[in-house]
Amino acid sequence: MILLDVRGVRKSYRSFGQAPVNALNDVYLRVPAGEITGLVGESGSGKSTTIRCILGLEKPDDGWIEFDGIRIDGAGKEQRRRLQREIQVVFQDPTGSLNPRMTAGELIGEGIRVHRLRPNRAAERVRVLELLRLVGLDERDIDRYPRSFSGGQRQRIAIARALAVEPRLLICDEAVSALDVSVQAQILNLLQDMRDDLGLTVLFVAHDLAVVRQLCSRVAILSDGHIVEEGLSGEVFADPRAEYTRQLLAAVPIPDPPVARARARERLLALAQPLSLEVSS
Ligand SMILES: Nc1ncnc2c1ncn2[C@@H]1O[C@H](COP(=O)(O)OP(=O)(O)OP(=O)(O)O)[C@@H](O)[C@H]1O
Ligand SMILES: [Mg+2]
Repeated sequence: MILLDVRGVRKSYRSFGQAPVNALNDVYLRVPAGEITGLVGESGSGKSTTIRCILGLEKPDDGWIEFDGIRIDGAGKEQRRRLQREIQVVFQDPTGSLNPRMTAGELIGEGIRVHRLRPNRAAERVRVLELLRLVGLDERDIDRYPRSFSGGQRQRIAIARALAVEPRLLICDEAVSALDVSVQAQILNLLQDMRDDLGLTVLFVAHDLAVVRQLCSRVAILSDGHIVEEGLSGEVFADPRAEYTRQLLAAVPIPDPPVARARARERLLALAQPLSLEVSS
């Protein structure tokens, strides 16, 4: 089943006195339910614009987007409210999306309250604590304010906040790019577990091809506002058809996924040992 279907979207930005920028030219992208789909492309290729159109923050000039069979631009009030919960996004820099006057607990719990996902405050608190643990933060962090966390910890609050409302689609726009490898590995494992256990669908936007190859079952390659190639990751990485994909792959050596996973685990173990943390296999 296709959960998200981007159908021939075009989008250009017009600013007064300047030539329009064609950010998206006829983008088609299908995101199957219960899978992690990668969206790869160099800076300026249109990744964030695609996401902004999916979120309804930009209106396509042409084409449309369907989520679970419903056109996003044609959604009524009740459907829009549902979409706001079902599609969550985590950006590279979460600072702007975290209100500095709210504690981590309030930030994570906000959506639970707005969408009435728990019957009372006590049940809400239990869920918030669970989410803190899930993203590798401490239960005691619940009363701390965003500015007292590191960048990577703030990113984990943003991820917990997105997961709190039980989305069906999680969009990560370079969400782990700024994290160090051990935290990155932890978050990537979390995404894989959520896909396996809860059937979460993920659209994973990244420039790190090794991470995409390891994580994503499918991948779409965006260049200059076009999807130049789309398919199963294994096939695209092993035998790229588009010249652009070949150039991308030639520019960086990408280890096989099992090798990359083993290395990530080694790094995690090395980091965990001095702290005597437990690393699940
Ligand atoms: N608000 C805007 N006004 C004018 N041009 C814009 C605007 N937002 C994006 N663009 C242009 O649209 C094109 C696509 O930008 P977009 O942000 O989607 O790229 P991206 O693939 O997300 O890049 P990055 O990897 O750097 O985040 C770029 O040429 C960019 O300069
Ligand atoms: Mg971007």
